[in-house]
Amino acid sequence: MSAVLRLDGQVVLVTGAGGGLGRAYAQELARRGAHLVVNDIKAEAASEVVDEIRAGGGSALVNTDSVADPDGCAAMVAATLAQFGRIDGLVCNAGTISIAPFQETRQETLSALLNVHLGGAFHLAQAVWAPMSAQGGGHIVFTTSSAGMFGMPQLSAYGAAKGAVAGLMGVLAEEGRSLGIRCNAVMPNAASGMTAEIGRSARGEGGLGPNPWVADALATFDPRFTAALVAWLLHPDCPSTHGIYSVAAGRMARVCTAPVPGWHGPLDRPPTLEEIAAHWAEICDPGGGVEVPANAYDEFRIVAESRLR
Ligand SMILES: NC(=O)c1ccc[n+]([C@@H]2O[C@H](COP(=O)([O-])OP(=O)(O)OC[C@H]3O[C@@H](n4cnc5c(N)ncnc54)[C@H](O)[C@@H]3O)[C@@H](O)[C@H]2O)c1
Repeated sequence: MSAVLRLDGQVVLVTGAGGGLGRAYAQELARRGAHLVVNDIKAEAASEVVDEIRAGGGSALVNTDSVADPDGCAAMVAATLAQFGRIDGLVCNAGTISIAPFQETRQETLSALLNVHLGGAFHLAQAVWAPMSAQGGGHIVFTTSSAGMFGMPQLSAYGAAKGAVAGLMGVLAEEGRSLGIRCNAVMPNAASGMTAEIGRSARGEGGLGPNPWVADALATFDPRFTAALVAWLLHPDCPSTHGIYSVAAGRMARVCTAPVPGWHGPLDRPPTLEEIAAHWAEICDPGGGVEVPANAYDEFRIVAESRLR
């Protein structure tokens, strides 16, 4: 049997940890021995999580700054350092969603979602960068989404913000390599306040429907599955940096952005359109063993079918 992986003494800030996935992350990390800073704009919810952690013998601090406010991001890292003297892990998890047809999505919604997802991730990473560098390293886990990576209707502002978070993670992973700062992103699927909203919409009460099986599937996905992955990504033994990991229905898988083998055309002249058309299948073929989801829903079909094989 492999050794138990502990996070004793590690200090981790989890944003949006008053509910849903963030709460499951904080609880799992505390069980593994980490000191937690439990951030959420919902003060009561964050306090409840801190009380639960303390009741279980763990150590945790409440923070209610908003990740959408750059000063709030700086303040929550300052509070972490003031209490614990270091910061080993940051989980950028807080977020909100807006479900609406593209044509009805206004600038205010785009700004709000960019501020909470991309702005929060950017400013928090910036705030931990110096202390983590001075300590010789640290771990940052960002949160992207299949809506941003694979596409999902009616989530234009949300998907754009989540796609941008994946881009930020890639740049910071490379910039952090020499500093010992490892950056990864999770792409969760789990029952939460947010997916209840998606579920209502997928049942036909909002713009997403009718996709009742998506609503039913999401409602059964336990946040603790993603929590286990997040805890591993924060563990010093985890070798990953610059990875995106999907969790869906008990399956964990790296999500890669990579060119497929492709078609190698002439080098001494540009290819003709006719040659491109003739080689189109080769240009698009992902190669053996990889099935590219057509969209966010299609990932569930792929997982379900691979379970049945
Ligand atoms: N649940 C899923 O299936 C799923 C899928 C893909 C991505 N995500 C992402 O996972 C993360 C967690 O989502 P969830 O499903 O647990 O949703 P949730 O709504 O249950 O939890 C989000 C938490 O973030 C908090 N929050 C919102 N704005 C905040 C702010 N400005 N500052 C601090 N806290 C704030 C909320 O109060 C809430 O407690 C989000 O980034 C979400 O986009 C979730």
